[in-house]
Amino acid sequence: MSGYLLKSARYLAQEALERAILPGDHVVDATAGNGHDTEFLCRLVGESGRVYAFDLQESAIESTRVRLMNAGLLDRATLIHTGHEAMAEHVRAEVSAVVFNLGWLPGGDHTVTTRWETTRTAVEAALGLLKPGGVITICAYPGHDEGERERQELIAYLSALDNRQYNVLEQRFLNAGSGAPECFIVQKIGKGNTDESAPSTGGDRESQEVGNASGGKHKSVENRTP
Ligand SMILES: C[S@@+](CC[C@H](N)C(=O)[O-])C[C@H]1O[C@@H](n2cnc3c(N)ncnc32)[C@H](O)[C@@H]1O
Repeated sequence: MSGYLLKSARYLAQEALERAILPGDHVVDATAGNGHDTEFLCRLVGESGRVYAFDLQESAIESTRVRLMNAGLLDRATLIHTGHEAMAEHVRAEVSAVVFNLGWLPGGDHTVTTRWETTRTAVEAALGLLKPGGVITICAYPGHDEGERERQELIAYLSALDNRQYNVLEQRFLNAGSGAPECFIVQKIGKGNTDESAPSTGGDRESQEVGNASGGKHKSVENRTP
């Protein structure tokens, strides 16, 4: 065997995206930055798909535009120079994926970082846009104060999502120190993802105790607060 079995936050997110996105799909990059994720998404959606890419910073949008142009992929993307909290106003189609890579622009101004208040609005919008089987991936960087606050708030917010509608995974390396990047993956439960390998949190269970993804037990799902 070669390579690492356990992948970093970003690669885990990419693996989920590769499985969730089909050619022709519409998807969102909520934090375009230098365009690496936007380019990855443009390849996955193919010629007939569309990537909506948001960033607050003009320099990030420009950097993404140049990257896509050089890769011959610019016609697959709509670049939107505004905060992702306006996502619902700009994206009307159902999407199969929304990607968040939180924090600041590498090599850029560290004071322009994602913040929980606007991240929350965008995650809420993303949940509303997601089609059954679709995923939201969120890479969080708790190595700085706002990043740690975002991580904690995300855990609280995502933990409370109705497990009949969404499966939610958090991946972190327990021995990597408190600032290590983390990956959250939310999948909307739907016909396409109710096979035997799916976690048993969702969908068709009416009440009683049900197992969660880690083998634990919830109380009656009907009593759970969404
Ligand atoms: C870690 S970088 C993203 C990296 C990028 N995905 C890539 O592949 O290069 C985070 C980006 O989020 C952007 N950002 C911060 N707040 C934002 C907001 N409210 N809406 C959209 N983008 C935001 C920053 O400007 C920065 O470019």
